[in-house]
Amino acid sequence: MNEHDSETISGMLQQRGYMEALERDAADIAIINTCSVRENADKRFFGTLGQLKKLKVKNPDFVTCVCGCMMQQEHITEAVKQKYPWVDIIFGTHNIHEFPDMLEQLYEARAAKAAGSEQDAEAAEGPVPTDSAGLCTEDRRAYNIAKHDVRSAKDTRVVRVYDDKKEIVEGLPAKRLYRHKSFVNIMFGCNNFCSYCIVPYTRGREKSRMPEDIIDEVKNLVADDVREVTLLGQNVNSYKGVDARGRQWDFTDLIYALNDVDGLERIRFMTSHPKDLSDRLIKAFVECRKLCNYIHLPVQAGSTEVLARMNRKYTREQYIELVRKLREAVPDIAISTDIIVGFPGETEEDFEDTLKLAEEIRYDSAFTFLYSIRKGTPAAEYEDQIPETVKHERFNRLVDIMNACSREKNAAYVGRTEKVLIEGESKKGSGMLTGRTETFKLVDFPGDPALAGQIRNVKITDSNTFSLKGELID
Ligand code: 5AD
Ligand code: SF4
Repeated sequence: MNEHDSETISGMLQQRGYMEALERDAADIAIINTCSVRENADKRFFGTLGQLKKLKVKNPDFVTCVCGCMMQQEHITEAVKQKYPWVDIIFGTHNIHEFPDMLEQLYEARAAKAAGSEQDAEAAEGPVPTDSAGLCTEDRRAYNIAKHDVRSAKDTRVVRVYDDKKEIVEGLPAKRLYRHKSFVNIMFGCNNFCSYCIVPYTRGREKSRMPEDIIDEVKNLVADDVREVTLLGQNVNSYKGVDARGRQWDFTDLIYALNDVDGLERIRFMTSHPKDLSDRLIKAFVECRKLCNYIHLPVQAGSTEVLARMNRKYTREQYIELVRKLREAVPDIAISTDIIVGFPGETEEDFEDTLKLAEEIRYDSAFTFLYSIRKGTPAAEYEDQIPETVKHERFNRLVDIMNACSREKNAAYVGRTEKVLIEGESKKGSGMLTGRTETFKLVDFPGDPALAGQIRNVKITDSNTFSLKGELID
């Protein structure tokens, strides 16, 4: 979701003639889009912000902007305002569309301030002072101006962080990360309030886009060479769109409609909450040719007691049954998951339940996280927090199992022929292309970059934990 917000911000700037700087030191503007889901991101944010001060001292015209979910938390926004005076623009997740306007506002405020200080300087005209070292060079003057500006970014600063009461803003541009595949938001916010999670507080309550707006966006993307869309929402299964005639659409209705869009080849979605995954959606995997055989289905924990305290609203048994139904309907479906280790009160037995569940399900891949306290969430107040050393020890045990499983799943692809959407040249270079199977496996193979955007048969020749190797066979 954040990545897609960054694409929108880049798209809006590009539309106004801005270009991406190739090096950090060459930039006139820096925008840090923040994530508040886990603590690590918080730490990196403040570190990066510190580094940007140097650029501001070198170039007083430099513009520092911060945005994203972290800015939706009052204690963070206040800390930025107080401790980082060189920050020029602060905006929240509901104000992204206003960013170009805020930039204009900043430039106007700076121009007005510069006009004011020119008048002051004229009024106080006199000899240029020298410092104790006898220096009164232009450099020293420039340095003083820069220092002054760093201190005083506060009086031109633009801040817009609103709540989520407003309507969804349609029609924003996006500078896509990939030419042939795209993210498409179908809804915003979350109503689930898992007890560890900050998202409902930062992204607000669920709001669904109109189905016509989504379908039109997908058609426009297809006209612009996109072959694959990933529908985005914190919980896509609770999508509730209302069309222009007042008819209610659920997520499965949307999938069937998109399956009929000419020129679109693949549909993916994330994320699915297990409690809301319907039998109709499972059927759609079978009936909709374009819906890829892959699902990200976060389990979070393997112990029913922990799941209850996480407020996930399903039991271990219900989750296992859901996976059984999915695999019965779509035998080669790939499944990935999210797991949190060290949730407050997690006993060794609870954790072993998670290990056993992972062994039983045999995921294709998993994102594993150390539980981190998020201020303002119920779990932050739970008394039985797990010591960091225990969390790390459990985390390592879990990762070993998950990686072994991914290796095994990938090894089973060797010798198979897979349809791969070619994304372009591999990061590894040297004439290699990269693409994804329907099941979201990354494949590297030799080939001509002109093939990007095509879906071709690739024979899988080798595998490792996180990717496959292959060769084009037609
Ligand atoms: N600590 C650790 N992991 C978390 N996640 C969300 N909140 C936390 C937290 N406080 C994980 C969940 C979610 C993923 C996006 O991030 O596993 O599915
Ligand atoms: Fe967070 Fe739960 Fe909502 Fe996912 S479903 S965004 S984990 S509250």
